[in-house]
Amino acid sequence: MTRKNEGIYTGFAQGYDLVMRDVDFEQWARHILRLRDRHGLEGNRILNLACGTGVMEPTWIEHGFEVVGIDQSEEMIVEARRKNSDLDGVVFEVGDMREFDLGEKYDLITCLYDSLNYLTDAADVRKFFRRVKAHLAPDGGFIFDVATEANILDNFTETTYAENLEEFAYIWENSYNLRTKICQSDFAFFRLDPNTGQFVRRIETHFQKMYSSRDLNQWLGKCGLKTLASYDGVTLNPPHSRSDRIHFVAGLQP
Ligand SMILES: C[S@@+](CC[C@H](N)C(=O)[O-])C[C@H]1O[C@@H](n2cnc3c(N)ncnc32)[C@H](O)[C@@H]1O
Repeated sequence: MTRKNEGIYTGFAQGYDLVMRDVDFEQWARHILRLRDRHGLEGNRILNLACGTGVMEPTWIEHGFEVVGIDQSEEMIVEARRKNSDLDGVVFEVGDMREFDLGEKYDLITCLYDSLNYLTDAADVRKFFRRVKAHLAPDGGFIFDVATEANILDNFTETTYAENLEEFAYIWENSYNLRTKICQSDFAFFRLDPNTGQFVRRIETHFQKMYSSRDLNQWLGKCGLKTLASYDGVTLNPPHSRSDRIHFVAGLQP
C-alpha cells in the first residue's frame, strides 16, 4: 500500500525554524547559486518548489534574484510570508508541486531539503518532473536534492528525537521499511498557547520515500529533462555510497 502524506507541515509550521536551527540555510542557498554558476545557468527568476517557511529566499534576494515560492502547506506559507515580509521580489503561494500551473517560465527551479522524498510513488515524481519541464525557461536549470537510504539507515531507523524548549516541545519517532523504502515519522508538537498558558498538542505523520539515482535519472529523461550532474551533499564532489543527500542539476532535453 502506498503511503500518502496528508495534513503534513500544519502543526510543524510554527516550530519548523526552531527544530532546524542548526541547519546553515544561508550556506545552502549560496551553494545552489554556486551550482547555477558552475553549470553556466543565467537569468534571475527562481521558482522554489516546496519552499517551506522560505529559509533560502533572503540569500537569493540579496543576490539580486526574484523568487516565487510554492508549498502545499498553507501554514508554512503563512510563516514564509510573515518572516520575509520586508523583502522585495519574493512571492509565496500555496500549491502542490505535482499539479501547479503558473503560466510562466523560470530560469532556475529548485526543490530542496528532501522535499522530493515526500512524493511517495513514482507516478507522482514523474508528474512533478513534467510540471518542472513545463515551467523551465529554454536555457534554465532545475536543481533538487534527495535524502538517501544511507541517511535514513544511519539516522531515521527506529530512532526518537525530542526537545523540550521553553514554548515549544516535540517528540519525533522514526521507522524505516526496507522493502517499501518508506520512512515513517510520527511527530507530536506541543506549543504554548499564550492566552491560556496551556500547551496544545498537534500530531502529524510524514512519509518519505527513498529513490535511487538510477530511477531519478531515468524518470527525468522520460519527462523531457536531462541530468547534467549530481553531487554529494552540499559539495562539488561526486555522490558516493555513504552520501546522505544528493543534489541533481538538470536541464531541458534539446
Ligand atoms: C523538509 S521541508 C523543506 C522546506 C524547504 N524547502 C526548506 O529547505 O526548508 C519539506 C516541504 O515540502 C513540502 N511539500 C511536501 N509535499 C509537497 C507537495 N506535493 N507540493 C508542495 N510542497 C510539498 C512540505 O509542505 C514542506 O514544507
